[in-house]
Amino acid sequence: MNLEKLIDKNIDESKQGTILNISNNISGGRKMYIESYGCQMNFSDSEIVASILTKEGFSTTQSINEADLVFVNTCSIREKAEQTVRKRLEFYNSIKKKENPSMIVGVLGCMAERLKEKFLEEEKLVDIVIGPDAYRDLPNLIQKVDDGRKAVNVILSKEETYADISPVRLGGNGVTAFVSITRGCDNMCTFCVVPFTRGRERSRDPESIVNECKQLVNDGYKEVTLLGQNVDSYLWYGGGPKKDFKKADKETQQNSTDFAKLLENVAINCPELRIRFSTSNPQDMTLTVIQTMAKHNNICKYIHLPVQSGSSRILKLMNRGYTREEYISLIDIIKREMPDCAISMDMITGFCTETEKDHQDTLSLMDYVKYDYGYMFKYSERPNTPAARMEDDITDKIKQRRLSEVIEKQMNHSLFRNKEKIGHSYEVLIEGTSKRSEDYFYGRTTHNSTVVFPKENHKKGDLVMVNIENCTAATLLGKII
Ligand code: SAH
Ligand code: F3S
Repeated sequence: MNLEKLIDKNIDESKQGTILNISNNISGGRKMYIESYGCQMNFSDSEIVASILTKEGFSTTQSINEADLVFVNTCSIREKAEQTVRKRLEFYNSIKKKENPSMIVGVLGCMAERLKEKFLEEEKLVDIVIGPDAYRDLPNLIQKVDDGRKAVNVILSKEETYADISPVRLGGNGVTAFVSITRGCDNMCTFCVVPFTRGRERSRDPESIVNECKQLVNDGYKEVTLLGQNVDSYLWYGGGPKKDFKKADKETQQNSTDFAKLLENVAINCPELRIRFSTSNPQDMTLTVIQTMAKHNNICKYIHLPVQSGSSRILKLMNRGYTREEYISLIDIIKREMPDCAISMDMITGFCTETEKDHQDTLSLMDYVKYDYGYMFKYSERPNTPAARMEDDITDKIKQRRLSEVIEKQMNHSLFRNKEKIGHSYEVLIEGTSKRSEDYFYGRTTHNSTVVFPKENHKKGDLVMVNIENCTAATLLGKII
């Protein structure tokens, strides 16, 4: 995601809703319309939902007027995201009442567990409520609605990874794709609702991951992003819970696959594929992962390394598992092993008890790292999280002022990083036609920088060398050489 989008995101999360579509409709079936909010994992999940229902004879549509089923894949991460989704559900409910009483409205994903009673019973906003681990039950729930019964399944699983389901690639560019490798999160950062909405962490069978990547290559894809809330804690040793790994016998332990091994497996088995991954929690990132990245040309030199705060005191309250100093040494190691590696972050301003001094620590950490990009948020208290038991004592005005300072600094750093690239040439994977002009392509470098350049005689999916001539904070501009 580029900085322009990021700024939008900081201003208005309602712009994040994306309608997903596939064109190979199966005739005869009912039509579904899926809208996804929030993180990449949600987009990936919507592709799993589409796959499950396509097998049942449903097809997809981009037009709400044609839809027999409307699904909103929801996000709970901040209050604003939830408000946006609620407005959408109210909108679809009004269409249902006024124009299409037989239309089924379903809420998927992270808001399901939290708001099931409210949406289904109190407000009667939706017909189906289904959590992120229950998508295999969707055909059954649709049947229940058809029979006039209540349809809810928010059970979280310790095993479900949807490993055997080939996602239907929705609304993508045909060049880049997401592949989920873990689900859930066990980290318990105190501000975060994900461990509650998505359940315990579990890793997917590495063979199914490599096979999905190989299939993508066969289908003409050129880049994958391996997805998880905390990819570096990926661990497969035959399917057991991660906490029991230490109890497993020596042979099982030796035959296990950790994230570095998985990354290498994908890199070796799919040499023509570019590989990215997200997200790395600094406390689980290992030297072996960094060295694996350095060793393989087809692993992109870019790490999203959310820091959340530059103050060790706040990091402790957040239960992030690292101090400012440990984070800085990790940055130093990354830069030592891969001097040109791009790094981005997530940052939260105004967490409980954050002082001006803590905030200054955040700004000085940013000055040290000079991140290539950043995703920055005001702290938003989420019900039932450990931080909800602390006092949310920083006023909105202060949170906002600190956020603006952080955003302004990041804009300067992004511009600085982009300016460094002027006069140099980078390999760019062409993802499509630029939104600004029909005559230009856009694509990304290994560093995840977006580049816009005249098309010449190339096509989407080509890898081209582009010389960078100019830039903004968000975009590089250049010419193919
Ligand atoms: N596992 C992912 C986290 C996903 S949430 C990761 O480590 O990146 C994405 C980002 O949303 C987080 O990194 C954090 O910066 C932000 N976030 C999460 N909960 C938040 C909250 N309660 N208030 C504000 N921002 C939050
Ligand atoms: Fe949330 Fe921390 Fe996991 S931010 S998703 S609990 S790594």
